[in-house]
Amino acid sequence: MESVPTTEDAQGQATPWWRSAVIYQVYPRSFADGNGDGTGDIAGLRTRLGHLAGLGVDALWLSPWYVSPLADGGYDVADYRDIDPAFGTLDEAEALIREAHSLGLRIVVDLVPNHCSEQHPWFQAALTAGPGAPERDRFHFRAGRGEHGELPPNDWPSHFGGPAWSRTADGSWYLHMFAPEQPDWNWEHPEVRAEFLSVLRFWLDLGVDGFRIDVTDHLVKEDGLPDAAGHHQRPHPWRDQEGVHEIYRSWRKLLDTYPDDRAFVAELWEQDPERFARYLRPDELHTAFNFPLLRSPWSAAAFREVIDATLAAHALVGAPATWVLSNHDTTRHVTRYGRADTSYGFDRAARHGLPVDLALGTRRARAAALLMLALPGGAYVYQGDELGLWEVEDIPDELRQDPTWLRSGGVDRGRDGCRVPLPWEGQEQPFGFSPARASAAPWLDVQPDGWRELTVAAQSGMPGSHLELYREALHLRRALPGLGDGPLRWNASAPEVLDFTRPGGVRCVVNLGPEPTPLPAGATGLLASAELMDGMLPPDAAVWLRGH
Ligand code: GLC
Repeated sequence: MESVPTTEDAQGQATPWWRSAVIYQVYPRSFADGNGDGTGDIAGLRTRLGHLAGLGVDALWLSPWYVSPLADGGYDVADYRDIDPAFGTLDEAEALIREAHSLGLRIVVDLVPNHCSEQHPWFQAALTAGPGAPERDRFHFRAGRGEHGELPPNDWPSHFGGPAWSRTADGSWYLHMFAPEQPDWNWEHPEVRAEFLSVLRFWLDLGVDGFRIDVTDHLVKEDGLPDAAGHHQRPHPWRDQEGVHEIYRSWRKLLDTYPDDRAFVAELWEQDPERFARYLRPDELHTAFNFPLLRSPWSAAAFREVIDATLAAHALVGAPATWVLSNHDTTRHVTRYGRADTSYGFDRAARHGLPVDLALGTRRARAAALLMLALPGGAYVYQGDELGLWEVEDIPDELRQDPTWLRSGGVDRGRDGCRVPLPWEGQEQPFGFSPARASAAPWLDVQPDGWRELTVAAQSGMPGSHLELYREALHLRRALPGLGDGPLRWNASAPEVLDFTRPGGVRCVVNLGPEPTPLPAGATGLLASAELMDGMLPPDAAVWLRGH
């Protein structure tokens, strides 16, 4: 299959694309519905590739599109080598990869190696085979505690609420760090290891350019599955175990046998920068999502600390940093930045429904986009970030689909609010998400009326719109030497201002404080997130300058 040509830097050196790439995350279910059944699909995505190429991103990361009962939006995979009929066919996937490549867009697929779906044939075989059967060794089956085995084998909690164990009809228990429909694989089993190497080969042979690895640090569990309470080792017996690195080394070896710079990106919520960097050693993974910026409150001091810590951690292993503001698991940043507490935490329940100033959040989101795209390394744009979409918080309870909602007994409102189908065009819902005369309403039919002004069509060609700001920034990022991978130099600034220069002389100034701040004299403006006031940068705004 035709691949995307390698890019050269200002010195004519070939640099791997993933060191500087801007990667657009597609959540296929909610991106574009081609066949009118209310669910986004490959057909819809293929008709919108032009939008993505025109936006100026380098690659697409597709959240899972594999065969799945969708108990967790596709992160419950029943067949790792085929596409779910709701999304299309394998032939369509191949056609998509080909068309994307011809437009200069690389394709990164999502790999979910910690768990599968309860419908996966190996899990079904394990259930049928019964206690003690070798088929059960590919998962974590255990007898329960208590007099009659009625208690879970240990005290681990599931990330989606409740215990991480469920009981089968024959009375044994199996481990699932997420929903009960997502049994954890036993990575000590050689067949599990061999199977994933084969799955990697399958998609590499089909022409994908990389993999996003789901919950990267969870695969290996501590020997004996000890209780977590009173556990003396860092951090938990179910994550960041030493043995996980050997798995990624074997994956890297395989990847390196393929041409054209294929790459891994790790989903890693590790907070310790040194532990984080270990996944990015030269013989392991290429890049990882760097979530501290996403978690950070809107504060110059906090941002600066995150940026410095990130760059220092990545320098330990020579890996490029990545930056991300939102994804399909987190509250959209327009909403976060419009609240009194602008940080992100997994205590979503406590934050849900707090007052939001959307105008302020939008203004800050524009500034954050210029900041992120000027920082060293790669960056991620979650579908709808480029439109300035906000979190939909008022979803009626009966329409909520995220398993976290049910598993938490309705305490956590879940992640549906950032997964609402995209608005493309027109005055009426679903704003072009599905074709005219669709046979069904969108799977999550809750687009706000206010998105009428935020459709791709409404914002296209509109000077100063959120979409045009992203387009301009992404095009400038390509045109100006020195953005992407490379060093950063801080300039002296007021405490509530971030001011740095990149090689080639592009300077980014961000004002996170409440007062306007003077801009350096003699610099030429390239792009601003808000109108400048007599040479001053207003509050909650960012600018790219040339010179000094
Ligand atoms: C990752 C995914 C999330 C999913 C979970 C379990 O965190 O991003 O959407 O629910 O893993 O696969």
